[in-house]
Amino acid sequence: MNERVETGDGSATLRSERFGVTYHSVHGARTESEHVFIAHGLDAVEPGDAPIRVFEVGFGTGLNAALAWMWARRTGRRVEYHAVEAFPVEPMPVEGLAPDEVARLQAGAKWDEPEFGFEVTVGRLEDCVWEAPQFDVIFFDAFAPNAQPELWRAEVFERLLAATHEGGRLVTYCAQGEARRAMRAAGWRVEKAPGPPGKREMTVAFREAVSRFNVRVYALIAAGDRVLTVREDLPGGPAVKFPGGGVELGEGPEDALRRELVEELGPGIGQQAEILGHAYTTGFFVRSVFRPSDQILSLYYHVALPAECSSRWPTAPDAPVREPEGEAGLKWRWVRRAELRDGDLAFPIDRYVAEHIL
Ligand SMILES: C[S@@+](CC[C@H](N)C(=O)[O-])C[C@H]1O[C@@H](n2cnc3c(N)ncnc32)[C@H](O)[C@@H]1O
Repeated sequence: MNERVETGDGSATLRSERFGVTYHSVHGARTESEHVFIAHGLDAVEPGDAPIRVFEVGFGTGLNAALAWMWARRTGRRVEYHAVEAFPVEPMPVEGLAPDEVARLQAGAKWDEPEFGFEVTVGRLEDCVWEAPQFDVIFFDAFAPNAQPELWRAEVFERLLAATHEGGRLVTYCAQGEARRAMRAAGWRVEKAPGPPGKREMTVAFREAVSRFNVRVYALIAAGDRVLTVREDLPGGPAVKFPGGGVELGEGPEDALRRELVEELGPGIGQQAEILGHAYTTGFFVRSVFRPSDQILSLYYHVALPAECSSRWPTAPDAPVREPEGEAGLKWRWVRRAELRDGDLAFPIDRYVAEHIL
């Protein structure tokens, strides 16, 4: 049995027997929902007449839906509310809604009024499928990551991003670093906002419109059954990738690759390396993890190192890898092609290349 809990602002919530946590903040259930989902969610949507389409993860007691319904009545702007709930409970009374109105906030129900459309699917978020972007605001109100880590993974946020209109947002009470990293890795631009009472911060994430291409060039350098990788400290943390980087305006892709090879491997090896030919260009849509408004287009080239490298920079399994004379802080490693396939390459296009092109 879920237990009823009185919270700091006089509103009530439940403690979940299944997950061992409360449905809302004990400092104030209603205050938290008003702050996170209404003030940072609905109030923050651009003014206009178009209906606002909301998707809620974890319908629970219906509190967020009740507040959204009251918001729609108050502002006169239509809200189309969709939610998913895996373990339905009875809706809880909410001040401002009549008992018969609260009773309509049932998981599994679907109804429509001029100011509010309501539909709650009984099922798991993991099984929701959307064909195209359709939501303006995601209320991400799953239980906390320590109770339900499976709902806070990048794959989940990736699917929600794809279901959200450009310019749309995701709001959540959660401020945990790992959850934010998962959102970022999925392509959301993540910002912190002040939290409700009892919490320093909450999170607001945005689906930015893609507004420009970011063209990149990379070298596939093989020696026997090994391929050269580099570990670099990037803004999101250390990442293993192929040597290379961004093409600058006014530069041809092969010129950019030469410059990157000189920068990363040093002028000696970099100048003498032979660019053998084009290997692959990104064939699918990829959004930059670091700048969500960028679409990444990567070109890969087969590159051979000068012959004397093999003695100066041996690739035998136990040979020490001497750092080349390029950029400091890069960690070079020859990796077996087979290992690379299951390996820890940071970028999706690199992983595709490791699997299909190498
Ligand atoms: C923090 S509570 C949500 C509180 C709710 N938004 C409200 O206003 O009362 C989290 C909800 O997520 C639901 N849930 C747990 N796992 C789920 C899953 N895999 N898919 C969908 N909902 C899930 C829980 O049953 C619970 O109702």
